[in-house]
Amino acid sequence: MSEAKPVILTCAQPTGGGDLTLGNYIGAVRNWATMQEDYECYFGIVDMHAITVRREPAELRKACYSCLAQYIACGLDPEKAALFFQSHVIGHAELAWVLSCYTPIGDLQRMTQFKEKAEKLGFQVKSAGDDIRFSHEGAKAQASVNSGLLYYPVLMAADILLYNANAVPVGEDQRQHLELTRDLAQRFNNTYSPTFNIPNAYIPKSGAKVMSLQEPTRKMSKSDENPNGTLFLIEPPEKLAKKIKSAVTDSGSEIRVADDKPGVSNLITILSVLTGKSVQEIEKDYQGQNYATFKGDVAEAVVETLRPVQARYHEIISDKVYLEGVLKDGAARAQNRAYKVLNKVYRKVGFPDRVR
Ligand code: AMP
Ligand code: TRP
Repeated sequence: MSEAKPVILTCAQPTGGGDLTLGNYIGAVRNWATMQEDYECYFGIVDMHAITVRREPAELRKACYSCLAQYIACGLDPEKAALFFQSHVIGHAELAWVLSCYTPIGDLQRMTQFKEKAEKLGFQVKSAGDDIRFSHEGAKAQASVNSGLLYYPVLMAADILLYNANAVPVGEDQRQHLELTRDLAQRFNNTYSPTFNIPNAYIPKSGAKVMSLQEPTRKMSKSDENPNGTLFLIEPPEKLAKKIKSAVTDSGSEIRVADDKPGVSNLITILSVLTGKSVQEIEKDYQGQNYATFKGDVAEAVVETLRPVQARYHEIISDKVYLEGVLKDGAARAQNRAYKVLNKVYRKVGFPDRVR
């Protein structure tokens, strides 16, 4: 019998309208697609995490489907990987509750992402040891910090441990959440008996951090206030090309990677990843050429890479029957594994067996 493959799980939030960026593609989804042969893969779209901020219900539903269709269009294969919506699998919230009983509140209040989000809502977070206090800054405080925001990392730990994942591909910004997950798994194992694998973060070495086209010292982001800095996967080709052609470049005219040329360096990185050419080759190719020619070629590479992605996206986004089939199958496979782990956890903590 063939040996079981190691399990990989990762999830993403259906942020905003669910539109993925070229940064998501290069830094994440493209790499997940290459793992599908060697790992048993679970890819979740975490709608339950999405309601820690207010969302228009119809918009959220639409964003979930759009995100799913973009993943498939980028090469995630529903035949190989389980693609699912978090709310379709029983066990995420259940396990999160159990884990929360092993999570000191202080650990959650210290999370960088939580502090940043609370501060965005207009709260000042002051910490002195374990004692963390929030204070309003008068009118700036728009809403209270809901406990879901604080509890977010416990739900994320549950997402991971529910599948007993061996590895979790994430960006650097999620490292702290992964550490919390590992601590929780260890604590549970020590309290009862070995139950969970201790999941490793899988942070790509060449994390190709795609930068904003308008402010190339900042990461390209879905939620950038300046939409010209971000390339969305499903944007019309003319718009993509226009944004690339008006990307901020640097003084001088040389086309090479350098610390004082963040704009040009970013475009070279994009071209290198998409064409498979090394940075050195690209620098050589464009010796003596001007920025306009170079940008034209970057635009072409992006548009041509995304052409089949967009075609596939448009083919399936309106095919509700197909997408529902993917979700039904994905959730069933995810549920199968999730129930096994959840039952084990329930027995270990001492919940009586369900009476049949
Ligand atoms: P987010 O869009 O922040 O939900 O991130 C989803 C995934 O895409 C994570 O694994 C991120 O590390 C990755 N990612 C997001 N933006 C970029 C970027 N500009 N460059 C490279 N990877 C990114
Ligand atoms: N917190 C992650 C993000 O903001 C999304 C996420 C939720 C996640 N659950 C997860 C990522 C489990 C990996 C594994 O990007």
